[in-house]
Amino acid sequence: MNLIPSLEDRDGAKTAARVIEYFRRRLEDWGQTHPYRLTASGAWAASRPEHLFSFFKSVNLSGFPLFIDLGSGDGVACCVAGLFTRAIGIESDLLLASSARGAGRDLGLSGRVDFVCADFLTQGIQKADCLFIYPDKPLYALEKVLEGWTGTLLVYGPHFPPKRLSLQEKLRLGMETMSVYSGR
Ligand SMILES: C[S@@+](CC[C@H](N)C(=O)[O-])C[C@H]1O[C@@H](n2cnc3c(N)ncnc32)[C@H](O)[C@@H]1O
Repeated sequence: MNLIPSLEDRDGAKTAARVIEYFRRRLEDWGQTHPYRLTASGAWAASRPEHLFSFFKSVNLSGFPLFIDLGSGDGVACCVAGLFTRAIGIESDLLLASSARGAGRDLGLSGRVDFVCADFLTQGIQKADCLFIYPDKPLYALEKVLEGWTGTLLVYGPHFPPKRLSLQEKLRLGMETMSVYSGR
């Protein structure tokens, strides 16, 4: 299955629908009604791909050459981001990271979307133009690692606001939100 949007699917909505359906089915295969599990470094819950697709369009994600998802869980956010740009997911939980790799392969996104099993605080995340996080804890440790970084941080869902990064806008769709912070 090749999921790079085709010319007939100019806004990518049909392609996104296939990503959404893939993750819905996989959760069903896992016998879960809600994506939730405790992991060694925190808690896994999945962001909602239909909302992400709309948020990523609003921030023109295609304009960012490298997107990194910090704590990528089952890979859903990275696979949606991969419809717009090059995306890397970093996840400390081995099972989630390998299942995310499988998703990237199944969706034909290999080469555009990659996953690393590691602690994102120890990786070279400053090389990303755009970082994404659906935080399971406050962002203070992350902010320390990002000192001097001038990129864009997207934070999905409710969170304690970071201290140094400045809020540019808060996008809302139904109950979901994504806050856009700038490191400049
Ligand atoms: C709320 S989930 C978000 C999953 C995904 N980003 C999404 O939007 O669906 C947070 C994930 O971050 C992972 N995590 C937390 N701290 C981490 C760290 N320091 N390094 C790598 N992964 C981490 C957790 O294991 C969990 O899977």
